[in-house]
Parts: sequence; C-alpha cells; structure tokens
Amino acid sequence: MTAKHKIFQDLPADLDRNRLPRHVAVIMDGNGRWAKRQGRPRIMGHRRGVDVLKDLLRCCRDWGIEALTAYAFSTENWGRPLEEVEFLMTLFERVLRQELREMKEENVRIQFVGNLDALPTSLQAEIERAVLETKDNPGIRFTVATNYGGRQEIIKACRSIATQIQQGLIQPDDIDESLFERHLYTAGICDPDLMIRTSGEMRLSNFLLWQAAYAELYVTDTLWPDFDRAEFHQALISYQQRERRFGKVGKKL
Ligand code: FPP
Repeated sequence: MTAKHKIFQDLPADLDRNRLPRHVAVIMDGNGRWAKRQGRPRIMGHRRGVDVLKDLLRCCRDWGIEALTAYAFSTENWGRPLEEVEFLMTLFERVLRQELREMKEENVRIQFVGNLDALPTSLQAEIERAVLETKDNPGIRFTVATNYGGRQEIIKACRSIATQIQQGLIQPDDIDESLFERHLYTAGICDPDLMIRTSGEMRLSNFLLWQAAYAELYVTDTLWPDFDRAEFHQALISYQQRERRFGKVGKKL
C-alpha cells in the first residue's frame, strides 16, 4: 500500500482532516523520570522512548500529517553523565541501522538537523546512509534534531550570510525572512504548526527558536515513554480548537 492510500487511515472521527497540522514537532521529555519511578536506570526510559517515537511516526503517517520533527539530543545534552551520552549515541546508531529497511518500505524521508560533525564518526556514517537512501521518498518527512541548538543554528545562519556579503554575492538589503530561512538547518522544511512537549515543562529549551514563531504549543504532564496515540489525539483536538491568528485580529473578535 502506498503512503497516499494510507492517508487518514484510522483518523479519529472527531478530528477534522482539513485542519490537521502539516508539521508536528516534539520535545520528548521525561525519559529519566519515567525510569526512576520504576526503579530502573535512566537509559531504560530512552529505550522505551524510541518505541514511542516509532509509534508516533506511524500515527502521523496514518493520519495524514506531512512532517514530524523530534528533539533527540540538544547541544546541552553533552553535559549529561558520560555513560548516558554514550548510551544515547549507540542507541541512535542502532535504531537507524535497524529501522532503515522499514523506513524505506514506508516511504519515510529521514533528515537530521544539528551540528552533526561533532557526533561519533560511526553514527555520522549511519546518518549519511539513511538520509541518502531515503532522500527521494515521497512519504512523511521525519527530521531528527541531534546535537541541535536553536541559538547555534541562528548564529551559523548569520555567519553564512555574512560570508556571502563579504564575497559580494548578496547585499545587506537582500536579507529577509525567506533568505534567512535558507541558511538554517531546516531549509526547505515548513515551520512546525504544533509543538508538543511532554513531562509538563513549559519551555522551548533552545528547540526550533526561529521556526516555532507561530507554532501552537501543547504541553502535557505525561512523560514521554507514556505518550501514546490517545495523548496525541488530545493534542490534535486542542490544536483544532485554537484560532491561529499569526498576529492578526481573529474572526471571533
Ligand atoms: C529527554 O528525557 C530525552 C532525551 C534527551 C533523549 C530522547 C531520545 C530518544 C527518545 C531516542 C530517539 C531515538 C532516535 C533514533 C531518534 P530526559 O532524559 O531529559 O528525562 P528527564 O527530564 O526525566 O530526566
């Protein structure tokens, strides 16, 4: 079955298929707390978190959402205990290797955003392979933010624009939102419409600072390893109840 035929499969009846977010971004928080509550090591939360992410990706694909972006590792996460960082790097690599075949079958196009040069070389190689082998897939666009920081991304964009000015390729007056966006890691990916954060923290934590300017925020107390389709359904209901004004005056006013 092609991705096209699967669109809106099992979409709950109380959701309006014409008002779904095109792009959902998730801050997957609470893995450590989930594991601790069960008296297990933190890494068990990350392991379970992968299964939750896989199911969310399938759900987005089934329900006709075009893009999903997940915050897997921030530039600040290097400050965690070495064994947790090493576990996460090995986990990313193993999951990529194991899931590539299914992603290809399911037409998923996987991409990574962040400073990938600082990742272990074996992980970089796995990322390169997955990106290359799925780049023409017409299905859901799955972006994994790894060693990602929103501020760093904006600085990198500024540097790259400054270099172009220095080289005489563009003038300062040429800088506008669309030019700026082309210098971000996310060039070519539409902005998120809905940003979900689990585990109750009300902050963006340096995630998609530019891109989330008009995203609707949904925060749930549920910890990431417990986030399921029913929770996602609630997030979409909440999204569809909102009036997106983009800074203008709303219809109801
Ligand atoms: C935050 O919970 C979670 C992370 C830093 C890691 C998230 C990564 C995954 C779920 C794996 C994704 C895998 C792939 C291949 C994309 P936390 O550890 O900060 O939890 P806490 O706040 O309870 O301590």
